[in-house]
Amino acid sequence: MPSTPRTRRAIVDAMKEAARIGGASLAGHFAQLSALSILEKGPSDFVSAADIESERLIVAFLNEALPGIAVLGEEGGASPDAGDGPRIVIDPLDGTNNFLHGIPQFSVSLALMEGEEVTAGVTYNPLSGELFWAAAGEGAYLGDRRLSGSSRASLAHAVVGTCFPYNGKGDTEKAAREMAAIMPRVSGIRSPGSAALEIAYVAEGRFDGFWASGAKLDLWDLAAGVIIAREAGCLATEIDGAGDPLDCRSLVVAPRQFHGLFVDIFRSA
Ligand code: IPD
Ligand code: CA
Repeated sequence: MPSTPRTRRAIVDAMKEAARIGGASLAGHFAQLSALSILEKGPSDFVSAADIESERLIVAFLNEALPGIAVLGEEGGASPDAGDGPRIVIDPLDGTNNFLHGIPQFSVSLALMEGEEVTAGVTYNPLSGELFWAAAGEGAYLGDRRLSGSSRASLAHAVVGTCFPYNGKGDTEKAAREMAAIMPRVSGIRSPGSAALEIAYVAEGRFDGFWASGAKLDLWDLAAGVIIAREAGCLATEIDGAGDPLDCRSLVVAPRQFHGLFVDIFRSA
């Protein structure tokens, strides 16, 4: 059953608190990285005690604060009976590679899914304290400040974010073609390493766009960012300009003045 705006507000408040709890735990581990035990789940896919503890704390908090709402965590924390009801998709540490290398760019990201739709999202950077959030129909915010995306007019002034398909995780040739197509058209390209956070940067206007197609993102990487960007007035689609990015095939997020231009550029790649 879809949540009402009132119940959704309570859910979002709990999601924000959960993100802060997970983030505080991550920040503690980040301060003592050398003590961390790390496991390689697959090529370029690591998990550590930090991810696991962050997810455990988030799930425990949500189960208590929001009984009856299912959860699905990247590290396996899933409600047994998710069914069709609302569920919260959790990335307990987005930017694991950065985290494990001591690079201070990572986040906790939570998205509320109702049916096939994402209706709220929270992405939290525990080191900067920045908390991006949005709820359907209520706008997108950084803390209390409403977000409306970049108002830059010229693509030549745009700075764009992306992520790459490292270590066999995706289509490297496609990613290289896309880079070659977009590089001569924009002012800068960045790949800081926490997709969830960097999609939120499009809502804030730091980035004038973000795309991922050679590199495959999962629902927990992108769902919160999709609603945060859309509520800031940006467009979020698959790279063809039409499909649903929540199907996790590809993603292009941008303010309205640039979205179609990016789609055209990538179509030619
Ligand atoms: C990763 C980050 C990264 C993206 C990778 C993701 P993780 O998530 O979002 O920016 O390039 O494809 O897997 O593994 O750090 O949670
Ligand atoms: Ca992630």
